[in-house]
Amino acid sequence: METIYFAGGCFWGVEHFFKGVDGVADACPGYANGNTENPTYQEVYTDTTGFAETVRVRYNPGRVSLAELCKLFFAIIDPFSLNRQGHDEGTRYRTGIFYENEADRPVLEAAFAAVAKELGQAPVTELGPLCCFYPAEEYHQDYLDKNPEGYCHLPLKAFRYLRLYQDIRLYLGDEPDAVARMANTAALIHERMGFFWTGFYIVRGEELVLGPFQGPSACFRIKFGRGVCGTAWKEARTIVVPDVEAFPGHIACSALSRSEIVVPIFRNGSVAAVLDIDSTELSTFDATDAAFLNLIAGICL
Ligand code: SME
Repeated sequence: METIYFAGGCFWGVEHFFKGVDGVADACPGYANGNTENPTYQEVYTDTTGFAETVRVRYNPGRVSLAELCKLFFAIIDPFSLNRQGHDEGTRYRTGIFYENEADRPVLEAAFAAVAKELGQAPVTELGPLCCFYPAEEYHQDYLDKNPEGYCHLPLKAFRYLRLYQDIRLYLGDEPDAVARMANTAALIHERMGFFWTGFYIVRGEELVLGPFQGPSACFRIKFGRGVCGTAWKEARTIVVPDVEAFPGHIACSALSRSEIVVPIFRNGSVAAVLDIDSTELSTFDATDAAFLNLIAGICL
């Protein structure tokens, strides 16, 4: 068993999230890297002790890697927000990854570099050794299991996406056929998340060609650099479109589609396909969708 410490804002939601990760044996909320001993919640709440609300995650590295845990962690935090996550503000809500084992450092540095590259900005999240950790009081342990209606700063969809992502990985298993994998990925995302259109466009020469999808019929081909899909391909990055009418060159396959997200899928370092999702509502997609759909894009081909 290995241990890593994640500070991701209010520890109630972060504990609950990591408890749902396959391969995690135990998640314990507590206080890390402050300058007193045996702090109480009330002391930490004053924001003068230096402690950060932190979750100690014990995991089986044969079932989930540290790199994978970091990707999940970055999917549930805002890595550019200093001393604030959700509605919670103060140094006790700063984000950080703290390690016990110096051998973890290169893996963590690579995870930070990947986030900076993907999002075009370096995280303000701390990276450093764990100096001290005190488990929080009993009433904070399993807080959201004890209080299912309790406060959680993480969006509910983060928990749905976690289950979806893990189920897709299990379901696809080692099926080698890319079309078959995309077909069931589209079906699972569509069914679980209730989107209007969920599907793939596959790179074929200078064009994207329609692949497996769920939803109304769609256009067959999209040229490099055209529409949201062709732009995501050209720029090799995720594109979130809150209002398709405001996106120059958007290709309207259906007049009902009002917002969209397109995630590139890489094979051997270049874009091999894109995952495209449409919604009939404005502003459906945000950083949480982008992060989890990127995780799914990483396993679905
Ligand atoms: N709107 C996309 C075209 C594909 S449909 O949304 C299914 C685009 O602009 O690339």
